[in-house]
Amino acid sequence: MADVLVIGGGVIGLATALELRQRGLTVTVLERDVCGQAATWAAGGMLAPEAERLEGDLRELGIRSRSLYAEWIRKIVHLTGQSCGYWCCGILSPISCSDADAETVKEHPKYIDRVHLDKRQSGLGDSVSGALWLPEDGQVDNRLLAKALILALRSLDVEILEGTSVDRIVTQGDRVLHLETSRGKLKAEHYLLATGAWARSLLPLPISPRKGQMLSVFDPNRSLQTVIFGKNTYLIPRQDGTLVIGATVEDVEFAPGNTGAGMHRLLSQAIALYPAIADMTIQETWWGFRPHAPNEIPILGASHYENLSLATGHYRNGILFAPITAQFLTDWICDRKVDPLLKALSDFR
Ligand code: FAD
Ligand code: GLY
Repeated sequence: MADVLVIGGGVIGLATALELRQRGLTVTVLERDVCGQAATWAAGGMLAPEAERLEGDLRELGIRSRSLYAEWIRKIVHLTGQSCGYWCCGILSPISCSDADAETVKEHPKYIDRVHLDKRQSGLGDSVSGALWLPEDGQVDNRLLAKALILALRSLDVEILEGTSVDRIVTQGDRVLHLETSRGKLKAEHYLLATGAWARSLLPLPISPRKGQMLSVFDPNRSLQTVIFGKNTYLIPRQDGTLVIGATVEDVEFAPGNTGAGMHRLLSQAIALYPAIADMTIQETWWGFRPHAPNEIPILGASHYENLSLATGHYRNGILFAPITAQFLTDWICDRKVDPLLKALSDFR
């Protein structure tokens, strides 16, 4: 019997399993499909508390997590020898003359006009009049990160049970007794729910899916060297020439598939932002489901059951929030320690 059973092998479950293991607990991860797929695979991997315009405590959560990233990635690379595509490339957030807030944005300390913008990144569309330059925002390759996390966990003897669906959390009073799974009954000292957009199927939590459609093109000249975060579209250049274009935000439950309208909207906005995309070949299209929570505040920490903790609802920023989530949840599970920021977020919720 493990000390902790982690339900869900996305970035949140994997990152927390790693932190728990490194604090000396035995951990098993239960994943109904393959770890690191779902939203973790679908994401853009931006580490962008500023570009995403997070506010208040959520912004602090994002900035603290972003500041943990370099060291966190170093640890994962040390354990695995695998690159995670972590790139402090900065983010440009373009402004158009027609934007309602175009004049106010000019007062922002990080505003640069078109002349300065062109020196940093040439080739943006004609409607762009300037940008916010956010040098501390950046990106990680979320697919490489997930693979490296899985390897890191295996290297530390964490058991990963893929193809294992948790069907029911069986409780009595204020305790979880066991899990009913496709492998039968499983028991541990503690349980962590990290099932992303699907959290509602195991507990009555206010989590719902928000579909995001994405595509990628190939930029043979690697002409874009920074993330461009437009009003409705973002462009994320990977170091191998892949250019990721995202993303729609749709309230359509778990409706699968890329749609003509979704792809049309993304491509036309992307070409307006960076016209060279018109001549780049399409590599891949995909979609995923963000776990949305009320006020976009993740649900982290205690549940109604003393031996069950929650880590879900990371919505648009789960890749960014992974290291701080792992730290907060491990502090909570091991020592019942609650960071004041975590308390402030829970109070707001
Ligand atoms: P998931 O990655 O969805 O993992 C949950 C796992 O739980 C899944 O593997 C699922 O199979 C498993 N599971 C569910 N139910 C059960 C069960 N009953 N039994 C066993 N296993 C179960 N974030 C950023 O920080 N930056 C970005 O640029 C970014 N871009 C995004 C773009 C798109 C299009 C999308 C969809 C998301 C984006 N996100 C981004 C958000 C980020 O991807 C998510 O917040 C994050 O992946 C959530 O991680 P998770 O582990 O909670 O969920
Ligand atoms: N954070 C980018 C997205 O969710 O689309």
